[in-house]
Amino acid sequence: MSKSKSKSVKADYVLAGLDIGTTKVTCAIGSVQDKDLSIIGIGHSANLGMRQGVVVNIEAVSEAIHPATEEAELMAGVEIGAVRISTGGPHMQSFDSQGMVAIRDEVVVDEDVDRVIEAAKAVKIASDRQVLHVLPKEFKVDGQEGINDPIGMSGVRLESSVHIVTGSHSAVQNAFRCAERAGLEVTGLVLQQLASSLSVLSADERNLGVTVIDMGGGTCDMISYTQGSVVDTDVVPVGGNNFTHDVAMGLRTTQIFAEQLKIDYGTALKDMVEDEESIEVEGVGGREARNISRKDLSEVIEARAEETLQLIKKGLENKGLIEQMGSGVVLTGGASQLPGLIEMGDFVFDVPVRKGLPVKTGGLTDVVSSPEYATCVGLLKYGMTHSQAQSQAIQQSQSIGTRFAGWKDKLKNLFA
Ligand SMILES: Nc1ncnc2c1ncn2[C@@H]1O[C@H](COP(=O)(O)OP(=O)(O)OP(=O)(O)O)[C@@H](O)[C@H]1O
Ligand SMILES: [Mg+2]
Repeated sequence: MSKSKSKSVKADYVLAGLDIGTTKVTCAIGSVQDKDLSIIGIGHSANLGMRQGVVVNIEAVSEAIHPATEEAELMAGVEIGAVRISTGGPHMQSFDSQGMVAIRDEVVVDEDVDRVIEAAKAVKIASDRQVLHVLPKEFKVDGQEGINDPIGMSGVRLESSVHIVTGSHSAVQNAFRCAERAGLEVTGLVLQQLASSLSVLSADERNLGVTVIDMGGGTCDMISYTQGSVVDTDVVPVGGNNFTHDVAMGLRTTQIFAEQLKIDYGTALKDMVEDEESIEVEGVGGREARNISRKDLSEVIEARAEETLQLIKKGLENKGLIEQMGSGVVLTGGASQLPGLIEMGDFVFDVPVRKGLPVKTGGLTDVVSSPEYATCVGLLKYGMTHSQAQSQAIQQSQSIGTRFAGWKDKLKNLFA
């Protein structure tokens, strides 16, 4: 694509999402016209500044944000000034809370709903934590249960049950800092698995009951829905990086080569591999390359995959959620691409398991048709329903050429 040309995007508005993941940063730019989303730009870059979803090196993360956003901007032909970012990992915690208010004019209006959610939010949280989401689970009007949308209903007493998600204040602020350091304004922060679920689930699945497991590099982040509402969120501090580490240790090779072996030859079920298949393994520290059986590789991966899924299942069982998953479990995130994982999931969870790809949108829908893009596409979907579009601070008008001219000047000044 020519750097000097700018495109004028025909749309009601343009918005951007930045998935700051443990292994990579992904930026997605979308345009919305008549409530239809089109992906118009996508970019990604390896991220070396995170551990298990938490920023450990601000400089390295902002350095990863730069090329990812630039790539997406070049593709889209627009410059983004503001983004919604994702956050996840073991610092996230969640709990349920209830609130109750009197209905002012005997019929529930928006203001009553706002007040009852505020009442449910009025719980003490530790000073080092901050509330990220207050997700309504259900409402009750005069004791009548199971109401999703109480607007227009008659009664005198409105109750709400909400799921509150909190994050470590410093971890959240550091994520903000990274984006701001890369020159972006942050319009909001979205729980990673919430964003992913918005891009991979249908409304029917949410109504019937479903758990999404976003299997990333550092963590597995879960979100469960019943009757259309979020009922639980959770994290297991194990991800694709642990699979790679096990391969490196088990086969005595480097992390980089282990990652490649896992992606090229790994399977979550060793029975998927023929006994006689063999692969060459690079030695560590100048040692000679060796031939190993592909079954040995899959054996290492199978053990970790089963342990991880069993851990997740135990968590869901303890909360009584498994039996509520009428439409089963959806696996998404980069690490869910391991062949055999869906079949193993069917066996472990004993409910139907499927792979979660972002649902079809307009534009570059084929490019983002991979579980790795679930979160960043979900950020755009979240943005569509939660933003005052025009306040997205996306400057469409400035040409990419002008932007690069600006950079040229900066470089000139630097060398001067
Ligand atoms: N084809 C594949 N087979 C198996 N694993 C894969 C494949 N492609 C990518 N992965 C793994 O997926 C992981 C990265 O997934 P993803 O991009 O969803 O993570 P992330 O968002 O950076 O991390 P997190 O969500 O934990 O913060 C890596 O561990 C990588 O090894
Ligand atoms: Mg992720």
